[in-house]
Amino acid sequence: MSAGETQLKIGVPTETFPGETRVALVPAAIKPLAKAGFELVLQKGAGFAAGFTDEEYRDAGASIVGSRDEVFAQADVIACVRAGGANVEAGSDDLSRLKPGQVLIGHLDPLSHPAEITKLAEQKIDAYSLELLPRITRAQSMDVLSSMATIAGYKLVLLAANELPRMFPMMMTAAGTVKPARVFVMGAGVAGLQAIATAKRLGSVVYAYDVRPVVKEQVESVGGKFIELDLETEQAEGKGGYAKEMSEEFLRKQREAMKKVIAESDVVITTAAIPGRKAPILVTENMVTALKPGSVLIDLAAERGGNCELTKAGETVKINGVKIMGPVNIPALVPYHASEMYSKNVQTFLLHLQKTGLHQPDITDEIVRDTLLTREGAVVNARIREALGLEPLNPPKPEETPAVEQPVGGDQETTENHSEENSESHNKGGD
Ligand code: NAI
Repeated sequence: MSAGETQLKIGVPTETFPGETRVALVPAAIKPLAKAGFELVLQKGAGFAAGFTDEEYRDAGASIVGSRDEVFAQADVIACVRAGGANVEAGSDDLSRLKPGQVLIGHLDPLSHPAEITKLAEQKIDAYSLELLPRITRAQSMDVLSSMATIAGYKLVLLAANELPRMFPMMMTAAGTVKPARVFVMGAGVAGLQAIATAKRLGSVVYAYDVRPVVKEQVESVGGKFIELDLETEQAEGKGGYAKEMSEEFLRKQREAMKKVIAESDVVITTAAIPGRKAPILVTENMVTALKPGSVLIDLAAERGGNCELTKAGETVKINGVKIMGPVNIPALVPYHASEMYSKNVQTFLLHLQKTGLHQPDITDEIVRDTLLTREGAVVNARIREALGLEPLNPPKPEETPAVEQPVGGDQETTENHSEENSESHNKGGD
């Protein structure tokens, strides 16, 4: 069955993760998806927390159903923000609602919770994890991590500004001159660049550092001053423009070199990330004690263990008058635009799946291969199989292969086999 012959139904359930306010598809997605043969079935009120009413969905052509069970029963595809490993507890009820052959698309956090993916495989669904999209030009318009990091980079500056006992801009008033705040951003990827741009717009003086020397120009283009450290970083960039994991010795030297800059900052923003790994520690307890009382350190990597030794995910820790903030799920604090951007990413991804084969996934396509986790009862994604300790599906020497579960047509390539011409990294502009 292909879209075009019969209308395929996309179900959008209400998000159940505590504090989640986003919705997977917004009313603006309905017309373009309908043109491609999809119709939307929305759980009543699913868009409300993000600012989208049932009437708006209905006017755009969606049908609204009263219960979650109905959404799952009717849908060929379930589009959500969080499921599987990204919503382990509250999402467990949905496992029994999933039907064999159904497609599930969303944040599934398979690298942190691979065992949850086995449960999805048992339901015989085709589960796609949007976090695993390759950072290539073709996938840029589907890249939910970049969209959400853009939102987070903006919002975390506002959160920090709210806690700071100073103002950000310089002001010359009759009551005297107010000095601008000094902001230091560590990690100038998508979130970091947006944080630099936002802090600059608020009038602060912004410094930034990243292990990838190529970002210097990007930092300067959004108004930041790039801090050069006397460290060997030529090899810091890996595949897809992401940073490679640096050695503990490198991180020690980096911390030493950054001590002075940190001590002079009013706000320190940390966003350093290595995909699929625990966040590197950039700020130790000792460095925090060098910060002035009233300073704020806001750690975007809190959910991945934090870039600061003292960060507690979801909490603000106070030490010697310094606040260390570890906010989680920041995009849910800006649910309207976060949903709009997420929805556009999901819409583009769905149209791509439809083109490449929604019910017969084309695993020669890098986007499909990297994001497809489960199919016909098996975990088929190479990275998740590795995380689960399962044999690869196409081991190099077939004659030595032990009997393992095989998906139909399961002639997979591992992520290491990416074709280089497809792996062109896309520009991670932050403004
Ligand atoms: P990204 O991969 O675009 O940027 C991370 C940057 O950190 C890269 O530029 C990399 O070169 C840099 N980096 C790595 N090691 C470093 C080191 N030792 N020193 C300095 N820089 C280093 O990632 P993105 O999309 O900007 O996300 C950043 C972090 O924010 C991730 O941990 C992500 O999970 C988190 N995040 C958290 C959200 C929340 O709600 N708490 C929302 C969105 C993202």
